[in-house]
Amino acid sequence: MRKCAIFDLDGTLTQSEEGIWNGVRYAAEKLGFPEPDAATLRKFIGPPLGFSFREYMGMDEAMAETATMTYREYYNVHGLFENRVYPGIRRLLRTLKQEGWYIGIATGKPQKTSERVVAHFGLDKFVEKLCGPVGDHRPGKIELICDALPEGWDASIDDIWMIGDRKFDIEGAIGAGVKSIGVGYGYGSEEELRQAGCTQYCATVQDVIDFLCPGAAAPKGAFLSIEGLDGSGKGTQIRLLTDVIERFGFELQLTREPGGCPISEKLRDIILDKNHEEMDDVTEALLYAASRAQHVRQVIRPAVEAGKVLLCDRFVDSSVAYQGGGRQLGVQRVLDINAPAVDGTMPMATVYLDVDHETSMARRAAATELDRMELAGDSFHARTEAGYRELIARDPERFIVVDATRTPEEIGREVAQRVLARLMEAE
Ligand code: TMP
Repeated sequence: MRKCAIFDLDGTLTQSEEGIWNGVRYAAEKLGFPEPDAATLRKFIGPPLGFSFREYMGMDEAMAETATMTYREYYNVHGLFENRVYPGIRRLLRTLKQEGWYIGIATGKPQKTSERVVAHFGLDKFVEKLCGPVGDHRPGKIELICDALPEGWDASIDDIWMIGDRKFDIEGAIGAGVKSIGVGYGYGSEEELRQAGCTQYCATVQDVIDFLCPGAAAPKGAFLSIEGLDGSGKGTQIRLLTDVIERFGFELQLTREPGGCPISEKLRDIILDKNHEEMDDVTEALLYAASRAQHVRQVIRPAVEAGKVLLCDRFVDSSVAYQGGGRQLGVQRVLDINAPAVDGTMPMATVYLDVDHETSMARRAAATELDRMELAGDSFHARTEAGYRELIARDPERFIVVDATRTPEEIGREVAQRVLARLMEAE
């Protein structure tokens, strides 16, 4: 018996309103219509475009036709990608795959467009067959579902589920003779899905996982870190990267070092306190390692075990660079101090925002309040930079080194592209 899951795309795997709304706004502006308000835009999701332009924006037949073409001008280039994979969907698809399920997609969105969306988000590797309308042929949901199933399927023998967010998906499943799950996080209501006769209703992606794969182990998540000298623009890049990672449907958890959990945050306050001038370099290194030991066990490992992408603002590399290089304790000594803290838990990729220490100093000079580390002298930061360079030379595979002297947007694009490639490779 084969287990098959056929998914709808918009509203089930991806949340697509942003691109659709921007397309409608674009068409309205270009054709001299007033910008539609939020309530009007919401109505555009679901029905055919021509119908919506006529019904909700008062266009005549010919104008609605022009508006649809104008919309496509925007949508096929930009709107397509102004889309988000629902949080947890990657984990659901990975779990199904891991459990040996066949995965297909049956969508009302043109097949070519859908293939581009699915490939853009790196979901194509999970999907064995994607079926949508091709050319002028506009098949109904029943036909699409049957086409998306594997050769020779038999609903009386196989365990087949259609998963969708609207009544059309459920009606299609009934027509095709297969079972259905109505999902409540998309564009349809629970009432709509139950009335249509779904076999099972799931309010969240987690509910779908629990229902289809009860007791299955969560696929492993990923541990990422980001490093750089003070003033390298880490804060901005973390914000940009967070947005992209989440948009791709990875479940992100952000954390930082020193800190990240109550005990480690207390240690952070002690370490960075400007009044602790007398702190010995060895004390400092041990405190960083102590805060890390707690953080690894309480935060990092559990998150990765639960399938999350854990992004840590600084990790052991900071100790090697700052305490080993900056404070001149030596690379090996700092690695030794940290061995029991890290205990084999290392990031699968580390973004290094590459700015030289002079640039970083100049940027920091503009900041208002400096902590104890930032108050250390110029040569300290030169040695820290050298520490990072040594680490990168030792472990070039792990580091993603990016020139961080460019604009935040340029840096962000490169960071996003390279980090996503690593994450998808590891899935
Ligand atoms: P932050 O400003 O990026 O939060 O980092 C706090 C300071 O602590 C920064 O100057 C780098 C320093 N640091 C170390 O010296 N060793 C370490 O192990 C870590 C994690 C940070």
